[in-house]
Formats: sequence, C-alpha cells, structure tokens
Amino acid sequence: MTTIGIIGAGHIGSQIARKAVELGYDVVISNSRGPETLAALAAELGPRARAATPAEAAAAGDFAVVTVPFRSLGRIPAEPLAGKIVIDTGNYYWERDGHVPALDAGEATTSGLVQEHLPTSKVAKAFNHINYREITTDGTPAGTPNRRALATASDHPEASELVTRLYDEFGFDTVNMGPLSESWRAERDRPAYVIRQNAAELAANLAKAPRTI
Ligand SMILES: NC(=O)c1ccc[n+]([C@@H]2O[C@H](COP(=O)([O-])OP(=O)(O)OC[C@H]3O[C@@H](n4cnc5c(N)ncnc54)[C@H](OP(=O)(O)O)[C@@H]3O)[C@@H](O)[C@H]2O)c1
Repeated sequence: MTTIGIIGAGHIGSQIARKAVELGYDVVISNSRGPETLAALAAELGPRARAATPAEAAAAGDFAVVTVPFRSLGRIPAEPLAGKIVIDTGNYYWERDGHVPALDAGEATTSGLVQEHLPTSKVAKAFNHINYREITTDGTPAGTPNRRALATASDHPEASELVTRLYDEFGFDTVNMGPLSESWRAERDRPAYVIRQNAAELAANLAKAPRTI
C-alpha cells in the first residue's frame, strides 16, 4: 500500500487525491487552515483518505505532492520531507505570488527553488501544465492513439521514474524535460501550457518555448 502525502488541497491537490484514491492509493491531505476544514473532502474521498496537518501529511507519505501557491513555499515543512520524492505542481504567477527577480529574469525555475527549499528531497515538477479539471477526465489507457502527454523534470532519475509511472496510472504519457533547470519549458504562457497535446506535440512545444515571457 502506497500513501501519498498531499500538501495543498485546492483545485489541483483535491483532484490528484480523487484520482489517486480511485487508483488504490492512500492519501493524507492537508492545507494551511487545518484538517477540520478538509472534513468534507476527506468524507468524499472515503476510507483511503484522511486529513492532517502539512507536517503530518509529509511524514505519512511514501512520497509527497506539494501543490500550493508559490508564495507559500517558505512554509512547506522540509524536515518530514527529507529523503522523499516530492512532486511539485507549482507555477509562478507574479500577480498572485509577488515578484521574484530571479524568476522574472529567467535565472531560476520555480521547481529549482522548491528543490533549494527541500535540499534533501528529490523534487520533480509535474501536473503543472494541465487544468485541474482534466486530471480526472483526460486520462486514457496506455497505447490509446493520440494519448495526452504531460511533462516532468527532476535532478533525480528515481523521481522522474516515479512521475512517469504515476502519469501512466493517471492515464497520460510522459515527456521528460530533463533536469529542473529545463522545467521552465512547461510553465505559464509557453506553447505547452494547459493545452491538450500528445507526446510528439508536447515535445515540439517544449522545444520551441522561449526562456522568458
Ligand atoms: N488550478 C489549476 O488548474 C492549476 C494547474 C496546474 C498547476 N497549478 C498550480 O498548482 C499550485 C496549486 O494550485 P491550485 O489551483 O490547486 O491552488 P488553490 O486552489 O488556491 O489551492 C491551494 C491550496 O494550497 C493550500 N496552502 C496554501 N498555503 C499552504 C501552506 N503553507 N501549507 C499547506 N497548504 C497550503 C491552500 O490551503 P488553504 O485554502 O487552507 O489556504 C489550498 O488548499 C499553484 O502553484 C498553481 O499555479 C494550478
């Protein structure tokens, strides 16, 4: 039995939890306001789910998903995520998150900054360029013609491999962008962002992405 610790239970976190429970994972969901505020979602998810604090969710997970606004990164607990694979779904919206000069200048990546905040974790970027609704609706079995593909990036091969397996279970092909330093290719306002693409289309869109927008 595999448990996923989910930090952030909004649009993306709740959808990943729904699909994961359907696939037979246990999930521990958390948010900033406390587990009592997640009672309805936990009830909807059923016996494979429970609500907890972010630190408890991080500690309970065999791996974790961090899916919070970028501005909340500093409050993600590093210690209980030490040594674990951490899937980061985040995007940088300066309108929401405040300006980060290194991101504005194209000198850093959001997931690279997550990796810096969680130095002993193995961070992978994933699920950042799909609309949350489509996580539970757009998956199809492996081998389906024109299957939708999603991108990932990590400095740790085992994290990329886990994402590839998870994407496949969720119903998506994978395009591996390489290290986190390349992860900007799938970010906002680039050609690959939140559109439906098969693997060949996604690879082509990633290749032509501009570094800054
Ligand atoms: N929406 C999409 O379709 C989409 C698609 C791809 C990627 N993304 C990206 O994925 C990330 C999450 O997006 P979202 O749309 O799911 O956001 P959202 O609906 O606003 O949900 C954010 C969640 O993060 C929680 N949170 C905030 N600060 C936290 C903290 N310090 N500790 C624990 N939990 C915290 C919030 O809890 P409270 O409500 O209790 O504060 C909430 O559950 C963002 O970076 C977003 O850009 C979104």
